[in-house]
Amino acid sequence: MRIGFIGVGKMASAIITGLKTTEHDLIISGASLARSQEIAEQLNVSFAQSHQDLIDQSDIIILGIKPQLFEAVLSPLTFKQPVISMAAGITLDRLGQLTNPELPLIRIMPNINAQLLASTTAISTNDKVTPDLLDLTKEICNSFGTTFEIAEKDFDTFTALAGSSPAYIALFIEALAKAGVKNGFPKSLALNIVAQTVQSTAQTIWSGPDSPHELIDKICSPGGTTIAGLMELERLGLTHATSSAIDKTIEKAKNL
Ligand SMILES: NC(=O)c1ccc[n+]([C@@H]2O[C@H](COP(=O)([O-])OP(=O)(O)OC[C@H]3O[C@@H](n4cnc5c(N)ncnc54)[C@H](OP(=O)(O)O)[C@@H]3O)[C@@H](O)[C@H]2O)c1
Repeated sequence: MRIGFIGVGKMASAIITGLKTTEHDLIISGASLARSQEIAEQLNVSFAQSHQDLIDQSDIIILGIKPQLFEAVLSPLTFKQPVISMAAGITLDRLGQLTNPELPLIRIMPNINAQLLASTTAISTNDKVTPDLLDLTKEICNSFGTTFEIAEKDFDTFTALAGSSPAYIALFIEALAKAGVKNGFPKSLALNIVAQTVQSTAQTIWSGPDSPHELIDKICSPGGTTIAGLMELERLGLTHATSSAIDKTIEKAKNL
């Protein structure tokens, strides 16, 4: 299967790293012929002479351009094969208007952890996608992480919880590390301690049996240090601030 990428930035490059572990043949087309050549050399894949040339020789197309560029880039092109979009806020209906609504169309939402082949990726499809094509899409997405098939109406929420949240989690890690620096730790040491703790806490919650609440109860001894810090975090509104940030993310995705 020949998979063609239009637009190869941070996310498409990460996906290509995963796909290179599969048998699929990869070809790209970037912002210009010179950029295509440069990126193809970096990633060790083929490049096409133009976007239409890429479309004419690919079995499936993955769009790696920014949502704001969709109209300008896609309008002059004629698609004949399944198209996968990873763009935040571009619905399957909109993708159909910009390509061809009769084609099998797939929306995916990866996250930046694709660069470690550990993305949490959502998939939603239009009704032209056959079970075999859905399986192929899952195989593509599983090459750079794990895959969740979700209803399209939930895409913006997924985008907030999995696409954007690595930035929010990074902010929390940075804040904890800064607090370590304030109390005398070198930044690199504080970051190392915090990042490892976040990773193993996520692993503990993920592998069970404790829910986050049960874990919190286990750590907070009566009258102890952790409950003092926890009450301060809630006094300052951590849960409310987080929920409000997710609402803003969803609102922005709906208005892109
Ligand atoms: N980054 C994330 O965490 C994330 C998460 C989920 C979904 N996404 C989605 O992934 C898509 C790409 O995001 P990104 O973060 O990878 O952005 P990015 O790094 O800016 O990549 C976009 C790429 O598009 C290229 N480009 C610009 N104009 C083009 C044209 N006319 N034809 C072909 N390529 C063109 C750019 O080329 P130059 O390098 O030459 O400018 C750049 O390499 C977006 O739709 C975004 O919504 C991203």
